[in-house]
Amino acid sequence: MRFINLGSRQDAAHYTAIEMFKEIHYNHCTLLGLATGGTMEEVYAKLVELLTLNHTDITCLETFNLDEYFMLDQNDPNSYMSYMRAHFFDKIGMQQSQFHLPDNDGIDVEEDNEAYDRAIREKGPLHLQLLGIGENGHIGFNEPGTPFDSKTRLVELTETTIAANSRYFDNEDDVPTKAISMGIDTILYSKRIILLALGEKKADIMAKLYAMSAPDESIPASSLLNHPNVEIVMDDAAACKI
Ligand code: GLP
Repeated sequence: MRFINLGSRQDAAHYTAIEMFKEIHYNHCTLLGLATGGTMEEVYAKLVELLTLNHTDITCLETFNLDEYFMLDQNDPNSYMSYMRAHFFDKIGMQQSQFHLPDNDGIDVEEDNEAYDRAIREKGPLHLQLLGIGENGHIGFNEPGTPFDSKTRLVELTETTIAANSRYFDNEDDVPTKAISMGIDTILYSKRIILLALGEKKADIMAKLYAMSAPDESIPASSLLNHPNVEIVMDDAAACKI
């Protein structure tokens, strides 16, 4: 696991976008694992710019998102589907068949989750999995205590995650308390992982992660110690307690 401090927020986000761009531009049919959250907004903006400027052929690109709120309408502005359409999919003209988010409609939940994992297993491994991190160390919506062999499934969000994500909703009571998340085992089934952490709110968890020599389920991101190709990209603010 390589920790990289790139200084400014913009440089860290742009580095991540450039690495994603190279995977898409220089491979024919790239498979990407995608993440949402405030951190990723600058990444997608730069990635869209690079793909557009370089006339990259994206007709064979296929993506799998980490997570989606449970039973939140896909057209709700706070759904991760809406986020991805607004920041990436619609901006580069991806077809619906090219992008996948966990099915969150509450019907056939287990079957749908198994099908999501199966699709990743059959098509994968993903060339690059993009990750953010929660203040409590969650990746996707895999909260502390999640077994490292977990697959895509319905999860309960912790109070800290609900509070952190409430900034996007009118009030905290509107934040869904459940989500469908790729499991940790699913996330690790990728050739390469970039975790991007920006801002001082991520400084404590970055310092904890940096100090760990062995994976521990109390910090889901420490599962990445089991993966051979992980970069943890930070700005000065996220790296300031290391
Ligand atoms: C949510 C997402 C995570 C993301 C986290 C951090 O909980 N499920 O995948 O890493 O938010 O988001 P932000 O970048 O807004 O801090």
